[in-house]
Amino acid sequence: MVSMYVATVPNRSSPPAILLRESYREGARVKSRTLANLTKWAPAKIEALRRLLHGEFAGPGRVEFRPLVPSDRVAIRDLLVRCGNFRPDEMDVAIELVDESLQPTGVEDYHFVIAVLDGCVVGYSCFGPVPLTDGVWDLYWIAVDPAVQGHGVGGSLQAATERHIRSAGGRLVLAETSSLPSYESARTFYLHKGYQLLERIADFYRPGDDRLTFGKRLEATKLVPKSL
Ligand SMILES: CC(C)(COP(=O)(O)OP(=O)(O)OC[C@H]1O[C@@H](n2cnc3c(N)ncnc32)[C@H](O)[C@@H]1OP(=O)(O)O)[C@@H](O)C(=O)NCCC(=O)NCCS
Repeated sequence: MVSMYVATVPNRSSPPAILLRESYREGARVKSRTLANLTKWAPAKIEALRRLLHGEFAGPGRVEFRPLVPSDRVAIRDLLVRCGNFRPDEMDVAIELVDESLQPTGVEDYHFVIAVLDGCVVGYSCFGPVPLTDGVWDLYWIAVDPAVQGHGVGGSLQAATERHIRSAGGRLVLAETSSLPSYESARTFYLHKGYQLLERIADFYRPGDDRLTFGKRLEATKLVPKSL
């Protein structure tokens, strides 16, 4: 399925470029391309288009958010496979966290928010408090079905996740991701949702695959990396 969205691309020395882009599937991979440069459009017109593209999705139903239930296990694995950028061992770890969370142990290391559209799981997030910190939470996974990516589901899911963390006393959310091209949507997504790149460890996952840590304070203040 092809999906269109408006992307804001920061520029170092000039105002951000506003692009109309589309993501599409090529074999197992999800790719994206620019359709038009909207930078010279009036802001109100850009906002109207952005709303229209998000609203297009609102037609068949409304996305709802709920906690994890046992039947989500299969849906989550299917969703991760369809995303196309996760290795089998990474997906195994994601499912281990699901299994752990479904155990009635009483320890809440892993929390989940499940996004549901018309009865189908279309996205999920998995997150938890970092031990021995005061209010720091890790966002371990966030994924949206490629069929509905670029229509605001990820943004709403992130907002629901942050509400959950805030209500549990969290003040800082960290999200680690890879520097590989297949994680570009995740990196752009975090930047668009108010996260800042705090740390980069070269060759962390494997040679040529750096670990990037994005962070967001849930209070009004912005994070300032001390020295990078
Ligand atoms: C990252 C991800 C969760 C975003 O979900 P989504 O439903 O597509 O996100 P939204 O439609 O809410 O878009 C949110 C913002 O990201 C931008 N965006 C979304 N997809 C994008 C893409 N492919 N390229 C550039 N920007 C993109 C949108 O323009 C939007 O910006 P805005 O709020 O300023 O309009 C989704 O792309 C995904 O599941 N990716 C694969 C899994 C993954 O890599 N997860 C992260 C690591 S665990």
